[in-house]
Amino acid sequence: MEIKRIYVYWFSGTGNTLNAVRTFCASMKQKNISVIRKPIPGNFLRPVEGDMVVFMMPVYSFGIPVFVWEWMEEIPKINTGNPAVVVTTKAGVSGLVKEPLRNLLESKGFTPYGIDELIMPSNIFYVADELTNVESTASAKNEVSKFADSCLEGNCQWKHKNFFVNMAYRFLRPFIKYSYGITGSMFFAQSHKCNGCGECVRFCPTANITMQDTASVPVWGWRCTQCLKCYNFCPHNAVTSHLAPLIYPKYRAPGVNLKDISPAYSQED
Ligand SMILES: Cc1cc2nc3c(=O)[nH]c(=O)nc-3n(C[C@H](O)[C@H](O)[C@H](O)COP(=O)(O)O)c2cc1C
Ligand code: SF4
Ligand code: SF4
Repeated sequence: MEIKRIYVYWFSGTGNTLNAVRTFCASMKQKNISVIRKPIPGNFLRPVEGDMVVFMMPVYSFGIPVFVWEWMEEIPKINTGNPAVVVTTKAGVSGLVKEPLRNLLESKGFTPYGIDELIMPSNIFYVADELTNVESTASAKNEVSKFADSCLEGNCQWKHKNFFVNMAYRFLRPFIKYSYGITGSMFFAQSHKCNGCGECVRFCPTANITMQDTASVPVWGWRCTQCLKCYNFCPHNAVTSHLAPLIYPKYRAPGVNLKDISPAYSQED
């Protein structure tokens, strides 16, 4: 099938996936493919003939962020068999998620077309020095650009794995969702540097942060997906973590700033 247009649905917590999105879209545009870029969560637009649908997100706990999975589950069934492609970014191991994603897309009526799992800088536990992060970002960009070419040339693959992986991921998902939610509510808090600007409320993807009316300070709820956006992109560096030195070193992807990462600003082409 000739691809004329791509829809790119994406989520990025600390900017790695956004860097991959930018490169993928630029490669497509260079080949005169029209690109429509949409953040997750957000509206899903029904594809027509000639459209390829692309989903790009980071790996969390060997899967994808649970709210992204739930958003994908809500996509209406299409009957047109449009090709669907996934690009994940990870620090090392994705483990479970390829096969369940393939099945999910198939169940929605897409043709699972190809998946690319990019190694990018780690944003959790251990953050490398700036030069290493710039280099590994450049290498991932190179890879995703080649992947974009192979999508157009029809050379990508997405093989079946096995049934047990699907089962394992199904059982793991609720556990991840609630353990992230509970621990997230304990990890993050605003410090004295907070001026109540409310930026974190606007960019939290799971609407987990609310403004306490009386004191104009943000409060963290139980729906955290631990994307680390509030922690790393608060414009006043006011978000602290009780476990910061152990698991959350500060990290922002090279070339990515608050405006790029926040749905409050335009993220669509
Ligand atoms: C909560 C959390 C869990 C993660 N789990 C994994 C994992 O299981 N495997 C992995 O390789 N990387 C893992 N990572 C690292 C990220 O997937 C990786 O750095 C990714 O590129 C971040 O993308 P982003 O900057 O677009 O948010 C995790 C990161 C976070 C914040
Ligand atoms: S973005 Fe930072 S400064 Fe603004 S309300 Fe949130 S924690 Fe406070
Ligand atoms: S509370 Fe912070 S870390 Fe948790 S989902 Fe929202 S922006 Fe991400």
